[in-house]
Amino acid sequence: MGFSRRQERLRDALSRSGQKAFLISSVNDILYYTGYRSSGSAMLVVAPKTIRLFVSRLEGDAKKLRTAEVLVTDKKSGLLSKELKKHGHVGFDEEGLNAGTYLSLRKAVKLKPAAKWIKEPRQIKEAGEIELMAKAARLTKKAFRMRLAGRPENSIANAVKMEFLLRGDGLAFPPIVAAGKNSAVIHHNPGQSRISRNHLVIMDIGAKVSGYCADFTRTFCSRPGKRERELIENVQNIHDIVLDKAQAGVKYSVLQETFEKEMKRLGYVVRHAIGHGIGLDVHEPAPEVLQNNSTVTIEPGIYIENFGGCRIENTILIKKSRGRVL
Ligand code: GLY
Ligand code: MN
Repeated sequence: MGFSRRQERLRDALSRSGQKAFLISSVNDILYYTGYRSSGSAMLVVAPKTIRLFVSRLEGDAKKLRTAEVLVTDKKSGLLSKELKKHGHVGFDEEGLNAGTYLSLRKAVKLKPAAKWIKEPRQIKEAGEIELMAKAARLTKKAFRMRLAGRPENSIANAVKMEFLLRGDGLAFPPIVAAGKNSAVIHHNPGQSRISRNHLVIMDIGAKVSGYCADFTRTFCSRPGKRERELIENVQNIHDIVLDKAQAGVKYSVLQETFEKEMKRLGYVVRHAIGHGIGLDVHEPAPEVLQNNSTVTIEPGIYIENFGGCRIENTILIKKSRGRVL
């Protein structure tokens, strides 16, 4: 069994991490490195010379896999802890490993946080991945054409869910639809509030296509007053200024600093980060230095309590010249 290009990049990350092996538990990491979609309990152990997938008896499909050595295990056989003991120092995904599993494996082996290394090879997207993200982006942006006025927030959110299930493979995250004063709540849960023409309405939605996520936000107001108009214009300007800085070779922190500087200049409070990496997961670590074909979101937002808010978000493909909105 040879190693794939993705597995070679992971082995390279392993050698730079100072660990002897990685214990990989997230469904999307396992999918990325082996092509196998686990129902949740599989574990992948990657060492310099071996790549072994530990699955329960329930995951019968894994037996056909040719991209990793497959071992069927259960708690009694202890195959996984035996494997980890062989390696001694093991890096694990501290963001994804279930606490119970961590506590029981910790008795057998030294576990060190290594999510940064395990996920690093996923940051630069291949052509096929970009194509799927672009499809998810198109499906997401189409949903912004929905009629809003007169409808409750949760009926819009449900319509978005249906659309993404019918035309893609579902949601990247639960849709946010926030009208009027609710739009000042960053992650509002859509409820019964009915949308009116003079409301600011935030729609923060994302479809998934073949596992790949999109994440876009638009703020609508069909009859804006002066204050609403100013808010939308300011957020759009900040978005565009940050997007101008987003290109390969630029530190990701520059995007955050630019966002904060523009917000301060206009007298607004910064309430969240400028964005995040995105791909198989809707929130992925962004590269420290933006890379050609890495993907991030840019999502400035301004929120005024008891009035409303505005957020504009795009999923961006980083290129050597200016970033491209997917
Ligand atoms: N779109 C939701 C978020 O990025 O937090
Ligand atoms: Mn986002």
